[in-house]
Amino acid sequence: MTRKTVTVFGATGTAGIACVDELIRQKLFDVCVLARKPGQQEKASNGMTHSEATKRKQYDEWTRQGVTIKTVDATSVEELIPALAGTSYLVSCVPINATESQYPLIWACKEAGVERFVPSEFGAIYEFEQYWPTNTSHRVMARQKAYIRRVIETTGLDFTIIPAGLWPEYYMLEPVAVMGDGNEKVAWSSGPDVGRIIPHILAHPASRNAICPVAATAYCSWNELLEVRERVLGRKVDRYYWGSEQWRAAYAKQPPGIISLLMAIGVALTDTPAGMSLFGNWNKTFLPEFKGTPLEVVFRDRVEPFVEGIRAALVASGELAAATTSK
Ligand SMILES: NC(=O)c1ccc[n+]([C@@H]2O[C@H](COP(=O)([O-])OP(=O)(O)OC[C@H]3O[C@@H](n4cnc5c(N)ncnc54)[C@H](OP(=O)(O)O)[C@@H]3O)[C@@H](O)[C@H]2O)c1
Repeated sequence: MTRKTVTVFGATGTAGIACVDELIRQKLFDVCVLARKPGQQEKASNGMTHSEATKRKQYDEWTRQGVTIKTVDATSVEELIPALAGTSYLVSCVPINATESQYPLIWACKEAGVERFVPSEFGAIYEFEQYWPTNTSHRVMARQKAYIRRVIETTGLDFTIIPAGLWPEYYMLEPVAVMGDGNEKVAWSSGPDVGRIIPHILAHPASRNAICPVAATAYCSWNELLEVRERVLGRKVDRYYWGSEQWRAAYAKQPPGIISLLMAIGVALTDTPAGMSLFGNWNKTFLPEFKGTPLEVVFRDRVEPFVEGIRAALVASGELAAATTSK
């Protein structure tokens, strides 16, 4: 039987790299990567972009492992359509602030005869969040992600929607602002585990035209998660607990930037009584063999270095001081 080809867009980002690496390891699909031509607009979810040299090294490594790299102007359907010929599944891992880059890609997929489009989601269940009462920058983004799913459906392409809950590394800067009372279970997926679970979801027949809300790393409460962090660090983790009113007030005072975006997520998760329980654990039912990275390892290898990086970037931009005064 000929193997299906999975093509990854936004491949050199956090979710993208882990997705391509897992596709290679899994050996179920032929793997292709769309490389955006040098000089195209560069964005990143955490504001820290990658250099051309870093990407080139990554492409060379993947080429050695049998991946086909196709370099395209990602804004041009004329270039995207031939590059997508032969692709069965397109996985998009574009950053949060480049959601709109997927429009030409969807059209090109339709024209190239691609079977399924997996849009860059990997957070809340935006289908619900788009209707949440408080208007924030995150709800604007949620509305666009929900709309993109409609666009995919309009083209007649199959889709797989993958909400992945909270990436713990984004919410661990101390004092940690817990969303709610910290007792309700939520889905946690570190960025690398998000990328790693995508090929497993795609290989499962139940993922066709489905919303598959996963907890790729852990399904536990904030308090349970912070307990593990305290064990790893060998000390108490400084934290406070905010309900929806406090999140809304903090968001209203915060100037635009990364902290404002994170506060908008706090608003989204506490804005309705059902907000916290909307994340699912699809993988527990459908992918029992998938093992998330143990939380101890996630904290040591991913969360703590990420928190230090974010802290340094926020201090450099002056944003951290603004956040401290808004508490
Ligand atoms: N729930 C959460 O807590 C949470 C946290 C973080 C992210 N997310 C979600 O996860 C998804 C993936 O985010 P990520 O953090 O993995 O992304 P990321 O690491 O920021 O992605 C960066 C990569 O995106 C590509 N890219 C850069 N600028 C672009 C542009 N203008 N147009 C298209 N592609 C561009 C580049 O790869 P190439 O040059 O190889 O194309 C770049 O290396 C997003 O949808 C985001 O909303 C969720």
